[in-house]
Amino acid sequence: MKQSIFITRKIPDHVLNQLQEKYNVAIWDHEEIPVPRDILEEKISEVDGLFCLLTDSIDSELLQKAHKLKVISNLAVGFNNIDVKASTEKGIIVTNTPGVLTETTADLTFALLMATARRIPEASDYLREGNWSTWSPMLLTGQDIHHATLGIIGLGRIGEALAKRAKGFEMNVLYHNRNRKPEIEEQIGLQYASLENLLKESDFVCILAPYTNETKNMIRKEHFHLMKPTSILINTARGGIVNETDLYDSLIEGEIWAAGLDVFEQEPVPLDHPLLTLPNVVTLPHIGSASINTRLKMAEVAMSNLMSALDGEKPKYIVNAELFLGGE
Ligand code: GLV
Repeated sequence: MKQSIFITRKIPDHVLNQLQEKYNVAIWDHEEIPVPRDILEEKISEVDGLFCLLTDSIDSELLQKAHKLKVISNLAVGFNNIDVKASTEKGIIVTNTPGVLTETTADLTFALLMATARRIPEASDYLREGNWSTWSPMLLTGQDIHHATLGIIGLGRIGEALAKRAKGFEMNVLYHNRNRKPEIEEQIGLQYASLENLLKESDFVCILAPYTNETKNMIRKEHFHLMKPTSILINTARGGIVNETDLYDSLIEGEIWAAGLDVFEQEPVPLDHPLLTLPNVVTLPHIGSASINTRLKMAEVAMSNLMSALDGEKPKYIVNAELFLGGE
């Protein structure tokens, strides 16, 4: 008998077709509407495999309803939407899609940094709204990127890829990470800094850390106090790492100069969110990995993780590898 899976959103046709050949597939076949909780609850109780997104909250309450679930394949590198501990306790494999999205997400992070520093969305609106009457010396002036200091918080794959881009702009690059990475420091030419020194010295602070209990609300009032009044905060990781109220206050008070945000504590961000009222905040709807090629590759990686797990093999990108300890 075929195993059964539930897919929580419309996915590329060629991936769906391959899954349908092998499994009994149920799918929430919508592009822009997340699967309602009651349907997710019903499906998770019936299937062997779940193919889900970062918008689906796979919490312990939901997992209690999973009677035969073997694998949760998340179409993302981040997996803060899944209670991994509860999954592991139930013997459910959790997988993610790192690697394939590294360069694309680093591209977007650098693009957001540049757009914020040089006020690109604001300048484009200025023109289209009919305000461009003449060239003027200090009109729409921003901050220099070349030769500035970039501070990266979280030096994983994406952080490293960002550092390489920054080096092309002759930036001085600092990083702060749980573990020091001396080989990478030497290879790319980075300097390790305490969080405090990184915040004090950087012109751009980019957050690229995973969202965990340790990084939740990690950047708040006292950290903005340390930053330069000309500095720019960029977040393409997870919104909850930054305290948004404190960020708003620091922008209003001129403690920092601008922010570029691809992620928010609540997504989609409510349109009446105070940060959206500020011209020096550049906002994007969580599109870090959104190139056509990368999203197709992510769907393929998520499929192959799911298939390996359902075949009883260790998936290439497993989050709770301890489930396979001693079994290899
Ligand atoms: C996107 O945010 C991801 O985690 O892949």
